[in-house]
Amino acid sequence: MDIRPFEPRDEAAVVDLWRSCDLLRPWNDPHRDIVFCRDSGHGEILLGEADGELVGGVMVGHDGHRGWLYYLAVAPERRRQGFGRRLVEAAERWLTDRSAPKAELMIRHENAAAMEFYRRVGYRRESRAVMGRRLDGAPWPAEDIPMEARPLPPVDITITCLEMLAPPDAPPVPAPLMKLALLRAERPSTGFYLYLYDAVGRDWTWVERKHMPEEELGAIIRDERVEIYVAYVGGVPAGYAELDRRKRPDVELAYFGLVPEFIGRGLGRHFLDWAIRQAWSSGPERVWVHTCTEDHPRALPLYQRFGFQVFAREAATLDPNV
Ligand SMILES: CC(C)(COP(=O)(O)OP(=O)(O)OC[C@H]1O[C@@H](n2cnc3c(N)ncnc32)[C@H](O)[C@@H]1OP(=O)(O)O)[C@@H](O)C(=O)NCCC(=O)NCCS
Repeated sequence: MDIRPFEPRDEAAVVDLWRSCDLLRPWNDPHRDIVFCRDSGHGEILLGEADGELVGGVMVGHDGHRGWLYYLAVAPERRRQGFGRRLVEAAERWLTDRSAPKAELMIRHENAAAMEFYRRVGYRRESRAVMGRRLDGAPWPAEDIPMEARPLPPVDITITCLEMLAPPDAPPVPAPLMKLALLRAERPSTGFYLYLYDAVGRDWTWVERKHMPEEELGAIIRDERVEIYVAYVGGVPAGYAELDRRKRPDVELAYFGLVPEFIGRGLGRHFLDWAIRQAWSSGPERVWVHTCTEDHPRALPLYQRFGFQVFAREAATLDPNV
């Protein structure tokens, strides 16, 4: 494939290509978009040709601050041959030649294939909300439902259950040098509990308890046999461990985790070791824990290092909306 800039004779073929790639939207006039881009003085449409045919294209431009990619398209019958990657690379070269420090693009929420393509060619998803306003008086497209109003896709996960059949025999892990206090939250309010749960689990798809009826959650967290220990660093909640002693003779380490800002400061190992010893303090037959592939990737090896052994694995689907 050869890549070259757009020429006026390409217009009809380019619009056909965009149409065949489902990139046209009723509120965008593709002919106007071509003229607007090329007349701007800081945008270009790069086209890929193979065997004398138009096989792909990308619109690239910068706004004086960042570079943007639009209308990336490879003809359906020419996909998966590296053309998309080469067009993106050509657009990136166009931008670096003009000193743009960053390339960005927007992907429609339902276009999971484009997201995967961009991930493979080195792009990462950023946590920004895109806001917009029509300046031409055109109505806002009804199908543009804000992302936060859309259901999140279900996630396939593997749950691993691990157990310890005897208390640890190694010496306790010393506390890190920080102003640390480990305190039991006695009969916590659901509000405080959900704050902890979200602060620790937000990045790891901890959703189950957020959607539990308040009474049901309250009954669990205020049960005498459920112990919630909060790690405070400098008076600020930095993580929590929940021990569930309701199913004797087992104790489950039902939840354990740190708030993201406190990960990597030596607190996790000490707090986990402390929680395990606390679990063993009532003389159970076994202490067990489960973790899933959505949890922090270091959770499973950490539990194994502390003496837990895998006893079951099961596949499940996690619906983040339930
Ligand atoms: C997205 C698109 C441009 C990709 O073009 P392509 O020529 O097939 O992509 P490439 O062959 O260069 O693929 C590059 C990498 O992405 C991967 N990839 C491409 N399409 C993919 C898909 N649908 N799902 C998963 N991975 C995909 C390839 O396997 C390859 O990965 P690898 O390098 O790790 O092997 C093309 O599918 C297209 O035109 N789609 C419709 C228009 C569109 O959605 N544009 C983006 C709007 S934001």
